Amino acid sequence: MQERDLDQVAALEQEIFSEPWSRQGFADSYQKKENCYLVVEEDGQVLAYCGLWSVLDEADICNVAVRKEARRRGVAEAMLKMLILEGKKLGVAAFTLEVRIGNTPAVALYRKLGFRDAGVRPGFYTKPDEDALIMWYRPGSE
Ligand SMILES: CC(C)(COP(=O)(O)OP(=O)(O)OC[C@H]1O[C@@H](n2cnc3c(N)ncnc32)[C@H](O)[C@@H]1OP(=O)(O)O)[C@@H](O)C(=O)NCCC(=O)NCCS
Repeated sequence: MQERDLDQVAALEQEIFSEPWSRQGFADSYQKKENCYLVVEEDGQVLAYCGLWSVLDEADICNVAVRKEARRRGVAEAMLKMLILEGKKLGVAAFTLEVRIGNTPAVALYRKLGFRDAGVRPGFYTKPDEDALIMWYRPGSE
């Protein structure tokens, strides 16, 4: 992710999520050296983005989104594999994320990548209210 991506990322975020991050939120996050943010672009259009926040050897994956017209083409899978590689370069050994428990496409995507269920955080999400499924992936321990 770079400064020039931020307008498109913020617009996509507004379209996709009920509680979107602001443009400033992405601007503040993508440059931090302990974070890594990726975008997938096609002909100058941002198709997808995702982020990772690392703390020592653990990282939280967040802001995973793919433009509606670009879904089911393997974009998210390829992008997250790349994010995990970048995380490893930062020294990350274990990756975690939260996902709405009813978000079948996202849960299936994370399971395919090797994430496993680790618990439920009741009422974590609002708009609409929903529990979060907590998942972890420890490469090499499968
Ligand atoms: C979840 C999301 C990121 C998936 O992106 P995508 O690029 O369409 O996913 P991919 O094409 O890479 O799919 C990879 C795997 O994910 C799973 N998957 C993706 N979409 C799915 C769907 N609609 N139903 C069931 N499984 C699905 C499948 O296991 C798929 O593998 P397969 O193609 O071999 O079946 C996308 O639907 C999205 O942006 N959703 C809205 C935002 C969101 O929910 N983000 C996650 C927040 S935690």
